[in-house]
Amino acid sequence: MCGIVGYVGARPALGIVLDGLRRLEYRGYDSAGVAIVCDDELRTEKRAGKLTNLEKAFGDERFGTGTAEDTTTVDSTCCPAPVGIGDGTAGIGHTRWATHGGPTDRNAHPHLSRDGRVAVIHNGIIENFAKLVAELEADGVEFVSDTDTECAAHLLAAALADLRAAGEPEGPRLLAAAMRRVCQRLEGAFTLLAVDASIPDAVVGARRNSPLVVGRGPGEHYLASDVSAFIEHTRDAVELGQDQVVLITADSIEITDFDGAPALGRDFHIDWDASAAEKGGYDYFMLKEIAEQPQAVADTLLGRLTESGEIMLDEVRLTDQDLRDVDKIFIVACGTAYHSGMIAKYAIEHWTRIPCEVELASEFRYRDPVLDRSTLVVAISQSGETMDTLMALRHAKEQKARVLAICNTNGSTIPRESDAVLYTHGGPEIAVASTKAFLTMVVACYLIGLHLAQVRGIKYADEVEAVVSQLQGIPDKLRQLLASMEPVRQLARDLSTANQVLFIGRHVGYPVALEGALKLKELAYMHAEGFAAGELKHGPIALIDQGTPVVCVVPSPAGRGMLHDKIVSNIQEVRARGARTVVIAEEGDTAVARYADDLIYVPRTPTLLAPLLTTVPLQVLACEIAAARGHDVDQPRNLAKSVTVE
Ligand code: G6P
Repeated sequence: MCGIVGYVGARPALGIVLDGLRRLEYRGYDSAGVAIVCDDELRTEKRAGKLTNLEKAFGDERFGTGTAEDTTTVDSTCCPAPVGIGDGTAGIGHTRWATHGGPTDRNAHPHLSRDGRVAVIHNGIIENFAKLVAELEADGVEFVSDTDTECAAHLLAAALADLRAAGEPEGPRLLAAAMRRVCQRLEGAFTLLAVDASIPDAVVGARRNSPLVVGRGPGEHYLASDVSAFIEHTRDAVELGQDQVVLITADSIEITDFDGAPALGRDFHIDWDASAAEKGGYDYFMLKEIAEQPQAVADTLLGRLTESGEIMLDEVRLTDQDLRDVDKIFIVACGTAYHSGMIAKYAIEHWTRIPCEVELASEFRYRDPVLDRSTLVVAISQSGETMDTLMALRHAKEQKARVLAICNTNGSTIPRESDAVLYTHGGPEIAVASTKAFLTMVVACYLIGLHLAQVRGIKYADEVEAVVSQLQGIPDKLRQLLASMEPVRQLARDLSTANQVLFIGRHVGYPVALEGALKLKELAYMHAEGFAAGELKHGPIALIDQGTPVVCVVPSPAGRGMLHDKIVSNIQEVRARGARTVVIAEEGDTAVARYADDLIYVPRTPTLLAPLLTTVPLQVLACEIAAARGHDVDQPRNLAKSVTVE
């Protein structure tokens, strides 16, 4: 996930683009860059690190402090930038969250054509980039970065050259025509913006499965990943459809499909102001991140299945034989990541028949676990920097175990020290309470389970494809679920005065119950506990008093019938003791409805994948209860997003 801005108008583009990037920094902040068209030339600057580093490149005295106040009104005429860059009135800018290629100056966007006259920025993953790179290299192109994006710059330059050679008239439409040619070659997800030094008054954009909106101002237009980038200039916007190319000049917006047929965007008016922009219009980053889950899951699945039906990891320093030799798996993680591992255990054991244990990373090495060359340790970490997990990993390596990392942060320590890596593509997660990272870690665990099963000959390609296709259906189900959360918000207001909330579940619903309770503890500072529903009668049932809310995570009645019946009995037990039952069940499960004081339905899905849906209402519940109690949802007391001490 990256942030993208483009501008064409009468004002200096540089300041407007940098301001837009500041507002989009939540989308990624490992490097940033701009390309401005001025005097028939392209001026580009790009830097690894946060936007502040890029701003410094234009002169410490103007941008050097890195505070928002310093950059809100940029008068580029006083900016000691390289001559001319402050005068250009068309430009593009990018703030990056690395996927292909580490977060370095070289890999920062924009990427340029060989002659430096075409610049491209990109959000997404070009899945067929390896094939395109090979083709371009065969034509003599030398790549200067490790990104998938650079091939788009070379393809665009080639398309422009071909169109010019064919006698097409010079001008903005030439740029759009060339962009359409490029889009027809690309597979995967992308938003692309581009400028050409010879076409100084236009920016072209294209969109497939990645966001892009147009801002409409008087005598100027904007392109951006979201409206927050231009909200301080205009509230009139156009949302592009899938597979569309948009050409903006100071006076016009032209939209076509990838074949050149005229197309329409959706006009809309933005009814919130710039102060909410950093959070993309949401009150909290957490709410925004909850809403991003469909895209985060889709991005994590993108490009994972090869044409021959094999699962693709990211970095693999293990042979298939190493994986065939595995006779025991330990999953190590902390906090929310640990809960994702608990869910993974059910899927991995079911699919691979390899014994799988889940361990709190902070406990792992102290109990001297039995590890050897045929043990696979799966380290799960959103940040890739959690010290407890890192220490568990190092201990495993000392004992000669193989280590596979699941991580959301490209190039961080945990994946670097592991033998193999599967990156989740959840995008930057800013709220301390993990939401989209959790769902994407669960998805990654499923992929690893399938990969192991396949390498060991337990699952055939078509069986793997069947599960992947069920996973690919999850983003739509998440969208449907997220659209039905209003009753959960109301319920949250109702429960915000409770003394405690208990959560129960069975099978994969048990870790979901633990995660629901953790979310409530960390955000609402309430007593909340998750239990395996069957354990209730062995002690915790004594906690239940008149009106105690008990959230019950119910498995599909279509799955293992016994599981469903057993939890229905547990619900009756707590109800008989005065509990208020909040039931999370599958659509159409009428059998459980009569035992529910509050009923939240989630779309139907296979039992093993259900946590990807049942967790979501619990996230919303915790977030809204915390807000109702007046807490700082994004930065709960005493916590940190990344814990680098043991
Ligand atoms: C901290 C955070 C949790 C997170 C845990 C593990 O405690 O507050 O939200 O789940 O670390 O973080 P990791 O980056 O390793 O997933």
